[in-house]
Amino acid sequence: MTGGGPPVPGVLAELREKAAARLDPVHWDFYEGGAGEETAAAENVLAFRRLALLPRVLRGAGQADTSVDLPGARARTPVVVAPTAFHGLAHPDGERATARAAAAAGAVLITSMASTTAVADVTASARSVREDAAVWFQLYLQPESGVTDALARRAAQAGCTALVVTVDSPVFGRRRRDDRNGFHDLPPGHATENMRGLPGAPPGGTLDIAMSPALSWDDLRRLRDGHDLPILLKGVLHPDDARLAVAEGMRGVIVSNHGGRQLDAAPAAVEALPRVADAVAGRIPVLLDGGVRTGSDVVTALALGATAVGVGRPVLWGLAAEGEDGVARVLAELRDDTAHVLTLCGARDCSGPTRDQVVARGPRA
Ligand code: FNR
Repeated sequence: MTGGGPPVPGVLAELREKAAARLDPVHWDFYEGGAGEETAAAENVLAFRRLALLPRVLRGAGQADTSVDLPGARARTPVVVAPTAFHGLAHPDGERATARAAAAAGAVLITSMASTTAVADVTASARSVREDAAVWFQLYLQPESGVTDALARRAAQAGCTALVVTVDSPVFGRRRRDDRNGFHDLPPGHATENMRGLPGAPPGGTLDIAMSPALSWDDLRRLRDGHDLPILLKGVLHPDDARLAVAEGMRGVIVSNHGGRQLDAAPAAVEALPRVADAVAGRIPVLLDGGVRTGSDVVTALALGATAVGVGRPVLWGLAAEGEDGVARVLAELRDDTAHVLTLCGARDCSGPTRDQVVARGPRA
């Protein structure tokens, strides 16, 4: 995790190690792996290590406040739970545990359409801890617009406060670990519960999640015009796509290469961030996910123009290692470390760090 030597022991490294020991190796590979040579997955982490933060001093800023305003949510931490599939493989409580931990931490949870728990049960779990817990629903536009509509309606009825449409997946990524392991289906006893009973599904059964390279901005407009929830686009790396997202009334963009699981030649998320932030020019929130492992990573992203960041694999490590408590530990560690680094950098809050405070590290000796 340090990108040089072995991981420095800490909460995330400890939970990762424990998760690796506990999980079925096939499921570990599914969680940990990337597409192709896994270059983008590795670079997400390494690119942060190539950046340094220049602290500002004597600003009298006091202890930093980590809260942020996001569409449909005032969050206590700028660290959002990124959508990841199949939490039931990590822990018997699955997404319910993740939802309770995120709610307790005051963190926004983006729940995946590929969850092993129905979205209504995910929001109910979150709200059992905090009535105003913010849950956003992630979906892939489906080739049948009726299926997309039914999913969006379910999310709204369940009390989700935003839709996150993932647009970096016209086809499934080619993940060699999963191919080698033959992992292409959920084991018996698990199902993609949000796909149950949708138009076209067998009675009582689920529909496969489909990807389609034929989808376009027209399909996104149809979703936008048919529903009231704000939409964020996830998987935007090109500044022109970010401009289009603003023009199409999107309420946020998430700079992401899908944790390196789609286009392996994609740049590290943090490398793509400044140009997207420039294109958006403060008109809507810009979020980032991919490779965030420390408070320094969070503050670097904030300084480069992000309003908040997402974490994918670290949440799965926590969940697999210690269930709800493990997710809580991941979120607490990242929030506390972020507060610490913000304070060291002379920032009062998450909007404090500025781009001039990020500099490239020199080549290693
Ligand atoms: C993901 N990701 C993802 N994204 C999405 O939009 N829908 C999904 O269902 C999933 N599923 C998924 C499963 C697993 C196992 C992983 C690791 C990732 C991508 C995820 O939202 C996020 O972009 C990355 O995980 C961020 O990178 P890190 O934090 O894992 O480095």
